[in-house]
Amino acid sequence: MHAEAPATLIAGSHGGIGQALLQTQLQRGPVISISRQPQPAQLTPPAGHVWQHIQADLSDPASVAAVQTQLAEQPIARVFACSGILHDAQHQPEKSLSQLHSEWLLTSMRSNVLSHVHLAQALSKQVSKRSPVHWLSLSAKVGSIEDNGLGGWYSYRMSKAALNMWIKNLSIEWQRKSPDSIVAAVHPGTTDTELSKPFQSRLAQDQLYSAELTAQRLSRVMDELSPAQHGKLLFWDGSILPW
Ligand SMILES: NC(=O)c1ccc[n+]([C@@H]2O[C@H](COP(=O)([O-])OP(=O)(O)OC[C@H]3O[C@@H](n4cnc5c(N)ncnc54)[C@H](OP(=O)(O)O)[C@@H]3O)[C@@H](O)[C@H]2O)c1
Repeated sequence: MHAEAPATLIAGSHGGIGQALLQTQLQRGPVISISRQPQPAQLTPPAGHVWQHIQADLSDPASVAAVQTQLAEQPIARVFACSGILHDAQHQPEKSLSQLHSEWLLTSMRSNVLSHVHLAQALSKQVSKRSPVHWLSLSAKVGSIEDNGLGGWYSYRMSKAALNMWIKNLSIEWQRKSPDSIVAAVHPGTTDTELSKPFQSRLAQDQLYSAELTAQRLSRVMDELSPAQHGKLLFWDGSILPW
């Protein structure tokens, strides 16, 4: 794909929030999606909009070269990095230290941190003074150290806190080579997806948002990104959360 207008890139596009973002962004212009899954057949972009799908596992370091090649010279203006994991069939978030296992912590780091790192490495050559990028990594409020009053969820909290520190570092490095780029982490709000399913029963109805509403909110945050938000952890309304 070589669209005239710079594209919006959505990584982790098969997830609940990623899919909703994909649907929203396909209505607006050229889109590149990245997922471990193949391109969904049921979605079609409106006439004139271009959609490139890259099948890759961003938690694998080999994805850096593969994605870099496929992106080639494609100009990219906006990135939503959505990859993340909280639980799987064998693992639920830890309630105590004794439930913390190194292998699950490493899986969490691969999905919640390295998937974002590898994507930035694949894109890095294209980010320049002339080609700034607005980047949002989906993080979580529970990754805020200052906000942690409850404990538990060790692997998720630790990996999201690591993601937040990486975002801060990336914001400093890219600021030097691309002063108009804006890099931030964002808490999407508790959203009705597979990730939050096991924990939804404890929530009041107005604390759980549809993926479509979250996609609209994150699209607005992206549209309104300002230099004051660079290198920060944002709430879904764009306000700044404590690290
Ligand atoms: N839902 C919420 O309430 C909530 C709250 C706070 C933060 N978040 C964050 O928002 C982001 C999106 O969450 P979601 O609710 O849409 O969750 P989801 O439906 O479970 O989707 C998770 C995404 O992460 C990717 N992923 C999962 N495991 C992976 C692995 N081992 N290696 C590489 N990629 C992996 C998947 O990408 P593929 O496309 O490759 O399958 C998928 O797109 C996550 O970072 C999550 O932590 C969600």
